[in-house]
Amino acid sequence: MPTALILGASRGIGLEFVRQYREAGWTVFATFRGEDDRVRLRDLGAHTLKLDVQRVEDIAGIGWQLDGERLDVAVVNAGVYGLRTSSVQSPPTDEQFDLVMRTNVLGAMRLMPLLAPLLAPAQGTLAFVSSKMGSIAEAQASYGMLYRVSKAAVNMVAKMAHSDYSPMGVRVLSLHPGWVRTDMGGPNAEVAVGDSVAGLRTVLADRAAFPSGGFFDWRGQPIAW
Ligand SMILES: NC(=O)c1ccc[n+]([C@@H]2O[C@H](COP(=O)([O-])OP(=O)(O)OC[C@H]3O[C@@H](n4cnc5c(N)ncnc54)[C@H](OP(=O)(O)O)[C@@H]3O)[C@@H](O)[C@H]2O)c1
Repeated sequence: MPTALILGASRGIGLEFVRQYREAGWTVFATFRGEDDRVRLRDLGAHTLKLDVQRVEDIAGIGWQLDGERLDVAVVNAGVYGLRTSSVQSPPTDEQFDLVMRTNVLGAMRLMPLLAPLLAPAQGTLAFVSSKMGSIAEAQASYGMLYRVSKAAVNMVAKMAHSDYSPMGVRVLSLHPGWVRTDMGGPNAEVAVGDSVAGLRTVLADRAAFPSGGFFDWRGQPIAW
């Protein structure tokens, strides 16, 4: 059976990836921060790994704990929205900027070189859960400025990963899950988490239709960078 690693699996989209891949019989490694979350993931049959993506020592720990594993899919999902009110009129403080950029961008940058060698033997897929809000081509408003900037940066990280790792056979994707009913998306969001993840898993499963270096939404529609 194939193996997936879900980074940021305690709740929302990450937890649903764990549920669905386990239901499909996959071996799943799942990262958590809180003890309750570890227990929930263990009860789903996942192998649990502690990871705060802001902690460089945690990231190194993931590297050695997974040494020798052969991953088919790695989903870099951990993320924060941060300051709700950030906009051109209302820029973030240092602390607000550091929280969002360190979590969403620096974490992705540091994980990449650990994940690529684990994915290469199975010609696996490295997926970054980005957002349409990170599309520069589609940006039409400044609300959520800090989050948008962080996801635009994540998209560049994904492109860099594609240029370096696709020659090794690793497919790299940026994914938009839709506006999803999670803690981040809120109760009024359009898409149920199960539908979003089912759609994203279809994208992940079809290498021919969704090639490396692409930015796709949960329905498989391409998004302009
Ligand atoms: N929901 C949407 O509408 C939407 C739309 C577009 C993109 N996205 C993206 O989808 C991804 C998942 O979002 P979600 O809606 O599922 O959000 P969520 O319910 O708020 O869950 C966020 C996840 O990220 C983890 N996380 C946050 N900071 C972390 C850190 N420093 N280290 C490790 N894990 C950390 C959380 O772990 P803890 O429980 O330990 O905090 C949690 O598992 C995010 O990257 C988000 O930007 C979501």
